[in-house]
Amino acid sequence: MSKRVALVTGGTGGIGTAICKQLHDDGYQVVAGYYAGGKHEKAQAWQAKLSSEGYDIALGFGNITSWESCEACIDNIRKDFGTVDILINNGGITRDTTLKKMTPDMWHDVIATNLTSVFYMTRLVINDMLEKKWGRIINISSVNAEKGQFGQANYSAAKAGMHGFTKAVAQEVAAKGITVNTVSPGYIATSMIMDVPEEVRNQILKGIPVGRFGKPEEIANVISFLAGDNSGFVTGSNISANGGQHMS
Ligand code: CAA
Repeated sequence: MSKRVALVTGGTGGIGTAICKQLHDDGYQVVAGYYAGGKHEKAQAWQAKLSSEGYDIALGFGNITSWESCEACIDNIRKDFGTVDILINNGGITRDTTLKKMTPDMWHDVIATNLTSVFYMTRLVINDMLEKKWGRIINISSVNAEKGQFGQANYSAAKAGMHGFTKAVAQEVAAKGITVNTVSPGYIATSMIMDVPEEVRNQILKGIPVGRFGKPEEIANVISFLAGDNSGFVTGSNISANGGQHMS
């Protein structure tokens, strides 16, 4: 049997890289989605580094805020490897500021990148999954969708919207062997967290009962479970992995 194909949007980022490595080790053909403003060299360097570590991971170029670009990305994967069996909607950005200073661009950029992209990508793979009667959609949300976060009205709204999407689509495709789930990471030690001002970051750390930021691999482990055959009864769920920062 040919390998299942897993697409990880934002695959070359902090959490994305750990997910790609884990899914590679799980035996899938992994495609790391990237855009980086069209800077292919950065993604190619990432691919070469992983290759030197023994990870054979393909690259899939696509601007997730553009329907046409997502369509081209999925078409290319279909040609090279076949239809996408496992979609990890992981690509996202922050544009943090308090609402009183938030510009329409800061709002729209975050909604387009973190939420509309989830519709685009899922819409573009769902019919192939329905035809195959098997699929896994995993949406990477955030603890800040569950609890809200000072300075993130845009991000919290987009990430919370993601879980509404998960629950609606999960119902539509449950009878066809496709699961749709959300994973909500807490503060994970990646560059996104390091962009938060140090004193704010230290304050956040004090609110994490486990006493540290998470590791990207700890999120990748949850994805590994949801992507596999054994998770078929888990759908429409939100799995929190936040070191106890927020318990719902
Ligand atoms: N609760 C209450 N008040 C707070 C606060 C909080 N959590 N944080 C800051 N404030 C207060 C400050 O003390 C300050 O008060 P004074 O005006 O009385 O001095 C005031 O709010 C600052 O307000 P400003 O509008 O001037 O805000 P700013 O321009 O200084 O910047 C910010 C605010 C950019 C939002 C900054 O606080 C920040 O970066 N916060 C972190 C946001 C965050 O957690 N982002 C997560 C990024 S990682 C991620 O998103 C991944 C994931 O999924 C977890």
